[in-house]
Parts: sequence; C-alpha cells; structure tokens
Amino acid sequence: MTQDELKKAVGWSALQYVKPGMVVGVGTGSTAAHFIDALGSIKQQIVGAVSSSDASSAKLQALGIPLLDLNNIDVLDIYVDGADEINAHMQMIKGGGAALTREKIIAAVARKFICIVDASKQVDVLGNFPLPVEVIPMARSFVARELVKLGGAPEYRQGVLTDNGNIILDVRNLRIIDAIALEDKINSLPGVVTVGLFARRGANVALIGTAEGVKIIE
Ligand code: 5RP
Repeated sequence: MTQDELKKAVGWSALQYVKPGMVVGVGTGSTAAHFIDALGSIKQQIVGAVSSSDASSAKLQALGIPLLDLNNIDVLDIYVDGADEINAHMQMIKGGGAALTREKIIAAVARKFICIVDASKQVDVLGNFPLPVEVIPMARSFVARELVKLGGAPEYRQGVLTDNGNIILDVRNLRIIDAIALEDKINSLPGVVTVGLFARRGANVALIGTAEGVKIIE
C-alpha cells in the first residue's frame, strides 16, 4: 500500500467516532483531507465542523459541510487531525502544514483528540521531524537565537505566512525526551505564538495505518 492509501484508510476509519448530531473538529493536511472526504459522505448526520485552517475550511465548504465558529460552540466532542510524529505517550509534533495554532486551540476545546497517521509517523523519540514554531514576524531573529540556546537549529520556512499572518521557524537537531518541559519553555519565549509540540494536550486515540490494517491505540 502507498503512504497515501494508508492515510486514506485512517481518514475513513475515523468516521467510527463521529456520531449523529455532533459538531466535529477538523484538522489540516493530507490525512485530514481524507477525513474531510469521509465526513462529506455523512454530512446530513452532523451539525457541522469547526476548521483548523483556511485550506480545510475551503474543502469543507466545497463538500457542503456547514462551518461553525468555535466561539459559538460550548461542547466539542471530537477533534480529528494528522501529525508529523507521534510517540508512545501520544505526544505529537504537528505543524508541518503551518496550521499548528488553530489546531492547538481546537484540540484544547475538544473532549477527545483522535490522531490519524500512517505508521511512518510513529517514533520512539520526538524530534527527527523539524519542530515547527509559529512566531510573530518581528520576533523572528530573537526567537531563533533563543531556540539555538535550547540546542536547536532553527530554519526560517521561506515564503510561508500562516493563516494568522505569522512566520514559521522549523527547529532541527532536537531529541525531545521531556516534551512537556520543552513545550512550556518554547511557549514562554516572547514572540512565540505556538510551538508544534502537542504534549500537554496529546492524543486520546491514535489510528495508525499499517499494511495489515488500521491499528487503534486508546
Ligand atoms: C498541519 C499538521 C498535519 O497534521 C501534519 O503536518 C501531518 O500532515 P499530513 O497528514 O499531510 O502528513 O500538523 O499543520
């Protein structure tokens, strides 16, 4: 099976967590895009979706799935999204698609975070994938210097502005043993909007696409 076929399998498998009458939190990326397609097939059964990016909003709208404002939602049962890496503690690196800030906000509101990934995203130690950090543009150099002090090698993601008008630094060279501590440290740097470490709020369920089928970790 190709990587995209594995992503499709987990995207559609996540439908088992969608119940009639739900508002569904929707992530961003190629795996989340498969989930959106799946959601389109049962759109009459749900109230609508809260989206984590302009790209996902456009896809949801194209499929006729009502888009809802997070500010008007009291209870969000599930958030379904991909990840760039996930470890055995259900902690993740996210933000490869630059949508990390809205993703983290929706994940914080949701009762259950369902992570959908192909098996290549499973790791023992987070950090092989460069850690995305969304930064206010004027703080770019300052934050980059501070990230070097933390042992990282930040690289400015050229030509990318987030949906919030900020820039992304991708931090290489990290071997993240204490993900919660690093998330807190990077979050506390002035100018940082969001770090793509989802450790304080990790996943509750991981659907892993493998050649043998979708593995469920709860
Ligand atoms: C976007 C993300 C994505 O979930 C992550 O990059 C994985 O993407 P894909 O499903 O395309 O492999 O965090 O900001």
